[in-house]
Amino acid sequence: MRQRIVVVLFLTLLSAHSLAMGKVVDAAGLYAEYCSVCHGDRGDGKSRARGSMIPPPRDFSSPQSAVELNRDRMINSITEGRPGTAMVGWKNQLTSEQIIGIVDYITITMMRPTTVEEGEQGRRLYAENCSVCHGDDGSGARWTLTNLKPPPRNFTVPGTAEQLSLDHMLKVVRYGKADTAMPGFASQLSDHDISQVVNYVRQAFMSERGKQTDKIEDINIKIAQEMEKQLDQDLSGDASRGQRYYLQNCAACHGVKGDGKGPRAYFILPKPRNFQHDAARHTLNRPRLYTAIAEGTRGTDMPAWEKVLSAQQIADIVEYVYQVFIRPGASRTQSANPASG
Ligand code: HEC
Ligand code: HEC
Ligand code: HEC
Repeated sequence: MRQRIVVVLFLTLLSAHSLAMGKVVDAAGLYAEYCSVCHGDRGDGKSRARGSMIPPPRDFSSPQSAVELNRDRMINSITEGRPGTAMVGWKNQLTSEQIIGIVDYITITMMRPTTVEEGEQGRRLYAENCSVCHGDDGSGARWTLTNLKPPPRNFTVPGTAEQLSLDHMLKVVRYGKADTAMPGFASQLSDHDISQVVNYVRQAFMSERGKQTDKIEDINIKIAQEMEKQLDQDLSGDASRGQRYYLQNCAACHGVKGDGKGPRAYFILPKPRNFQHDAARHTLNRPRLYTAIAEGTRGTDMPAWEKVLSAQQIADIVEYVYQVFIRPGASRTQSANPASG
C-alpha cells in the first residue's frame, strides 16, 4: 500500500523532473535493465549475483545507505565506478541525464528518508541496535534489569569511562561478550558504524555526573502498570474476532504461535517480531501494539495496517496478540485460543 503511494509520488516527481529537462528518462526501466542484476529488484542488494561479490552490492534500503549516500556521491560512483569492486563506471553506457534519473529513482523508491546528518549517525545506530537492551538513557532498559543475567552494563555509573577502554568497547561490540546476552555486531555493522556507536555511548552516557537508579521492586511495579494499559478513546478489542484477523493477515510472518517464525519469515530481514520474546513481553502493551500495527515499521516488511484495516479491526488484533502472546501468564508455546470468551 505504501509502495503504491511512493510510486505515485515518484511518477509525479519524475514527470516534473523530466519536463524540466525536456526529455523523458525511463529511470525504472534503466534500473531494471542495468542495475537490478546486482542490487536486486527492490534495491536491497538481495540479488542472485551477490554471493560472489566482495564487497557485496550496496543495499540502498539500509539505514547505513540513508546516512552515507548523498546525491553527489551516488552520481559520482555510478559515473566513475568504485575502484576495486564489482561496481564499474557507467559513463560510457549512460548519459548524465540517465544517471541522474536513476539516482533520483533509487532515492525516492528504495532509500529510507533521512534528515539526519553524519554526526547523528551514532545516535541513530544506538537507537536501532542497542537501546532495546541498554535503554534510551544508557542505564539499561527496564525489562532487562530483571530478565537478563547479568543485566546490560549501566553506562551512566560514574567511573565507567575509566573501567571500559575504547579498545575494549570496540571489541565487545564487534564480537559480543561470552556468557551474557551481549551480541556481537560484526556481521550487521561496519567497523565505521561500530566506532560511531561506541563514540556515541561514551559521549552521551559516560560523563561524570551520577545517575539515580530505581530499586528493582519499583521497576517491576512500573513495568506491570505500563503493561496493563488499555487503548485510549472508546476502543476496546474483541480477541476472538482478532484471532481470525491475525490468522488471515499476520501469521504468515509472525507465525501461528506468535514466535516470529511464519512461513514468510525465512525470506525477511529484519525478522518479524517474536511476540514471545522477553523484550516484546515487557514493552508491547496495548497502545504500543496499536501504534506498531497501524503505522508499520518503515524500512522493514512490516506494513502499515491502518490503510487496510479499520480501527476496530486493529483493536481486535491488538487484544488477541496481547492476551495470547504478551500478557503475563500467556502460554508461551501454544497457538492458543483467545483467553477470553
Ligand atoms: C556487477 C554488479 C553491479 C552492477 C551491475 C551495478 N552495481 Fe552498483 N554496486 C555494486 C557493488 C559491488 C557495490 C559496492 C561497492 C562498494 O562497497 O564500494 C555497488 C555500489 C553502488 C552504489 C554505492 C556507491 C557508493 O558510493 O558507496 C551505488 C549508488 C550504485 N552501486 C548504483 C548502481 C547503479 C545505478 C547501477 C546500474 C546503472 C549499478 N549500481 C550496477 C555492484 C553492481
Ligand atoms: C540483547 C541485549 C543487548 C543488546 C541489543 C546490546 N547489548 Fe551491550 N550488553 C548487554 C549485556 C547483558 C551486557 C552486560 C555484560 C556484562 O555485564 O558482562 C552488555 C555489555 C555491553 C558493554 C560493556 C562490556 C563490558 O565488558 O562490560 C558495552 C560497551 C556494550 N554492551 C555496548 C553495546 C552496544 C554499543 C550495543 C549496540 C550496538 C549493544 N551493547 C547492544 C546486552 C545487550
Ligand atoms: C510481510 C511480513 C509481515 C506481516 C504480514 C506482518 N508483519 Fe508485523 N512485523 C514484520 C517485521 C519484519 C517486523 C519487525 C520490524 C522491526 O524489526 O522493526 C514486524 C514488527 C511487528 C510488531 C512490532 C513493532 C515494534 O515496534 O516492536 C508488531 C506489534 C507487529 N509486527 C504486528 C503485526 C500484526 C498484528 C500483523 C497483522 C495485522 C503483522 N504484524 C503483519 C513483518 C510482518
